Amino acid sequence: MGSSTLTYTDRAAAGSAADFSDDSTPETSGSLGVTLRGLGRRFDGRTVLRDVDVDIRPGEILAVLGASGCGKSTLLRAVAGLDTGFTGQAQIAGQAVSRYDERTAVGFQEPRLLPWRTVRANVALGLPRGTPKAQGRERVDELLRLVGLAERADLRPREISGGMAQRASLARALARRPGVLLLDEPFGALDALTRLKMQDLLLDIHAETGTTVLLVTHDVDEALHLADRILLLGADGTDREGAGVAQLLEITNPRPRDRGSAHLAALRGALLEGLGVEGTTAADTTAETAAETTGGATGEGAHR
Ligand SMILES: Nc1ncnc2c1ncn2[C@@H]1O[C@H](COP(=O)(O)OP(=O)(O)OP(=O)(O)O)[C@@H](O)[C@H]1O
Ligand SMILES: [Mg+2]
Repeated sequence: MGSSTLTYTDRAAAGSAADFSDDSTPETSGSLGVTLRGLGRRFDGRTVLRDVDVDIRPGEILAVLGASGCGKSTLLRAVAGLDTGFTGQAQIAGQAVSRYDERTAVGFQEPRLLPWRTVRANVALGLPRGTPKAQGRERVDELLRLVGLAERADLRPREISGGMAQRASLARALARRPGVLLLDEPFGALDALTRLKMQDLLLDIHAETGTTVLLVTHDVDEALHLADRILLLGADGTDREGAGVAQLLEITNPRPRDRGSAHLAALRGALLEGLGVEGTTAADTTAETAAETTGGATGEGAHR
């Protein structure tokens, strides 16, 4: 049954995955693992990323940190299948990513809502093609409730705040129950208070859906609050050009996490040092020792 009244143009403008796929992938649910093997990317003869080997566990929240321009978005685009010019391999549930994959959903710093559509219709854009109308409506209502926008469903993007727009964008990404949610600085444009609320919303969503999350962020505290592990991209101890795995840290603090915890403070110091920020308080020079001394995390330290 033809369910959707949304046009191709609408989906294209929203950056929906549906445009990139010509088969009808069934709805995914649950969480999928992501494997990166020797992932690398060169642009114009310059190596940006190289030799990234990481196994992202099903249901894990992995935060990716690194200096501006080190290749965080490039890595995320490789996993999303938005870029096929990389070397090595990105796999989702053991299957190589070769083009945009409907098992993933991507969220960006800006919400990318269609201004001429209501919040409800924008969220519906994320539904898999061919979703029966009644089922789609139910799913969209459920998502609007989940992100606290049930009361705003009939408004247009210009009538809601930036934080609400970002929540709508998150709901749209979740509409097809992605096995992997890829987020590129999703809260980067929000004010500090809204940002903290959005972080907790993401944790609620994660607890409810169990989806694997790959979260690119500039914010060390955000990574420490949300992630099961933090991948720090940067120099990996060799002199070679491009960013690799500088640190891979496990955060074992149970949730909800105390943002003021001493464990997290020690890890923060180590990560800031890894990012080249001077004047950090941690006496330890590596995340590995910070993790050992706090007992709150297991540092895998330099990856290679
Ligand atoms: N399509 C492209 N063509 C040429 N160079 C590119 C392209 N995409 C990215 N780059 C370069 O690759 C490097 C990494 O870019 P990327 O966007 O992944 O960085 P980032 O870590 O996400 O940075 P930021 O934190 O500022 O978002 C940059 O030097 C960028 O200029
Ligand atoms: Mg980026």
